[in-house]
Amino acid sequence: MARGGPTSSFSSPFLSPIKDVAAREEPSYLASSRGAYSSPMFTTKAYAAASATSSLASTTIARREPTEPDVQIEILFCGICHSDLHQVRDEWRGVMPTVYPCVPGHEIVGRVTKVGSAVTKFKLGDLAAVGCMVDSDRTCAECQAGLEQFCRNMTLTYNFPDKHLGGVTYGGYSDSIVVDERFVMRVPSNLKPAGAAPLLCAGITTYSPMRHWGVTAGKKVGVVGLGGLGHMAVKFAHALGAHVVVFTTSPNKREDALRLGADEVVVSRNSNEMKKHAGSFDFILDAVSADHDINAYIDLLRRDGNITLVGAPEKPLAVAAFGLIFGRRSLSGSPIGGIPETQEMLDFCGTHNITSDVEVIPIQKVNEAYDRLVKSDVKYRFSIDMASLKSA
Ligand SMILES: NC(=O)c1ccc[n+]([C@@H]2O[C@H](COP(=O)([O-])OP(=O)(O)OC[C@H]3O[C@@H](n4cnc5c(N)ncnc54)[C@H](OP(=O)(O)O)[C@@H]3O)[C@@H](O)[C@H]2O)c1
Ligand SMILES: [Zn+2]
Ligand SMILES: [Zn+2]
Repeated sequence: MARGGPTSSFSSPFLSPIKDVAAREEPSYLASSRGAYSSPMFTTKAYAAASATSSLASTTIARREPTEPDVQIEILFCGICHSDLHQVRDEWRGVMPTVYPCVPGHEIVGRVTKVGSAVTKFKLGDLAAVGCMVDSDRTCAECQAGLEQFCRNMTLTYNFPDKHLGGVTYGGYSDSIVVDERFVMRVPSNLKPAGAAPLLCAGITTYSPMRHWGVTAGKKVGVVGLGGLGHMAVKFAHALGAHVVVFTTSPNKREDALRLGADEVVVSRNSNEMKKHAGSFDFILDAVSADHDINAYIDLLRRDGNITLVGAPEKPLAVAAFGLIFGRRSLSGSPIGGIPETQEMLDFCGTHNITSDVEVIPIQKVNEAYDRLVKSDVKYRFSIDMASLKSA
């Protein structure tokens, strides 16, 4: 994969535009772009966007036949992450431009239907999960440390160069997926699959920074934005014993926030309510998908407090230097989580009986769901029942 972003000397795949994948025109995706690759393949149903302005629609894609370490999974549920929407609409074009057709989806739970000869962790019929990554080089220091999300040769589940078939990877809005077992997780049997699917992105993306920044009992933790990520953050922070304050722009989410585990709820458009918390937080997780004033939250941190961005808005946020300087506060970001930590998070959810609050929809409602997501109108994650794809 020859990628080197002209905009940055840091060669993270997140910052380096995909240059080596040409957009393809064949509606079936099976013709010329796959011609140079010899992997045996099969076809499966999927939902794809043909351009940044088109709706998602039914189509057929190719998957590789499982090779020795691979697991083939019949997808039962796939969550809808706001990242799917950012990517389908090419809102991250400056960082990771979308290659069309695009089949999104990286919150996948399903049943194992086939295993390669070298597979040891899974057998037919097992419940299995796939998140945001499907491969990495396994040899670099990050991979050795189980931090595959930082591997420079990591492969995201969709819109990333597909090493097996050429073109780009296709995600979970699909009947089935084939993934190396190293990137497949086990799902605790007490978790319902529809609510477990969003754990694979919304779950790990909020769990990982909380573990990293030491969220425990006695800490005051803020969660900004009560959406898919935010509501999981509330559940985790509460389960870890912290005092949890939710910041929302939606006053009608107050009762839900308390039910989900918040100790206090602040409507962030009310500056008096905000001021009461000045200089008091150990940690704030910002899970907002759109432009907003982050300085208002930096001011709420105590000395050495940290605010971590997991939300990835289209446009850069303006940061006032003095907000960080006074109080030696820090601002950081965090991407998803490594494979071992994702399994740890799923097991934590099994122990604490944590799943996502989902609105289950058929795939035919996916475009409507995207429109609702933009309006913050979801409680609190859409989970697509993939059985509906059979009639699409
Ligand atoms: N770092 C990572 O690895 C990673 C992984 C997954 C997702 N993400 C990103 O995280 C963000 C959130 O994803 P999600 O799936 O949780 O999205 P979501 O369900 O749409 O939630 C976003 C929430 O942000 C708040 N919000 C929306 N527009 C706002 C505005 N203009 N001003 C202030 N608040 C606003 C809303 O909460 P209230 O109604 O409570 O205000 C909304 O529910 C997205 O940008 C996504 O791409 C990052
Ligand atoms: Zn996601
Ligand atoms: Zn690596």
